[in-house]
Amino acid sequence: MSKRILIAYFSHGGENLIDDQIVDLKGNGNTKVTAKALQEKLSARGINANLFEIEPLIPYPTSYQQTLARSKEEYENGSAPIIADGPNGFEAYDVIFLGYPNWWGTIPAPILSFLRDHNTEGKTIVPFVTHGGQIFLYSLETIEKEAPKAKFAKGFAVAAPYINAAPYVIEEWLKENEEVIQ
Ligand SMILES: Cc1cc2nc3c(=O)[nH]c(=O)nc-3n(C[C@H](O)[C@H](O)[C@H](O)COP(=O)(O)O)c2cc1C
Repeated sequence: MSKRILIAYFSHGGENLIDDQIVDLKGNGNTKVTAKALQEKLSARGINANLFEIEPLIPYPTSYQQTLARSKEEYENGSAPIIADGPNGFEAYDVIFLGYPNWWGTIPAPILSFLRDHNTEGKTIVPFVTHGGQIFLYSLETIEKEAPKAKFAKGFAVAAPYINAAPYVIEEWLKENEEVIQ
C-alpha cells in the first residue's frame, strides 16, 4: 500500500523582513507557498498528499514588529499557544512533512503545540524550513525532542529572498529521497 502523506505547516504570511525591506506577504507566506509547491510536485508524481495549516487560535498580528515581540516572549517562555484542532485522521498518516519559518533560530511556538498535541510515534517526519539565512539552526533538535518516537528523514530549506526557487528545491529533494514517499 502506498504511504499516506500529510503536509502540515505553519506560516505567518503577514509583514516580514525580506532583503532588509518590510514586505506584507498578505496571507501568502513563504512556508505556505512552499507547502503548496510540495503538494503540486507530489501530485505531478501521482502522489496525493493532504495539506493542513497549523493555526494558533489567537492569530499573530500582521505587523512584523508586533509578531517579533509576541514570538520572542513565546520563545523565551517556551510557551505553546492553543492551536485549532485537526487534521482529521492524523493517526492514519505515515509521513508528515512539517513546514515552518525559522523563528528565533528554531520552530515557531505553534509547531511546538502541534507536536505536543499529536502522537508521532512510528511516523516519518520530514522537516522543511523557510528562513532569512539561518536555515534549520536549532529547529531540528527541538523537533526531535518533542517527537522522540518519530523517525526522521532529511528535510529541505528555502531561503526567503529566493522563495520562487521552492519548486526546484523540492524537485531536487524528491529525486534524492524517493524512498521516503514511495
Ligand atoms: C518573528 C520572526 C522571527 C524570525 N527569526 C528568524 C531567525 O532567527 N533566523 C532566520 O534565518 N530567519 C528568521 N526570520 C525570517 C523568516 O524565517 C522567513 O522570512 C520565513 O521565510 C517566513 O516564512 P512565512 O512567510 O511562512 O512566515 C524570522 C521572521 C519572523 C517574522
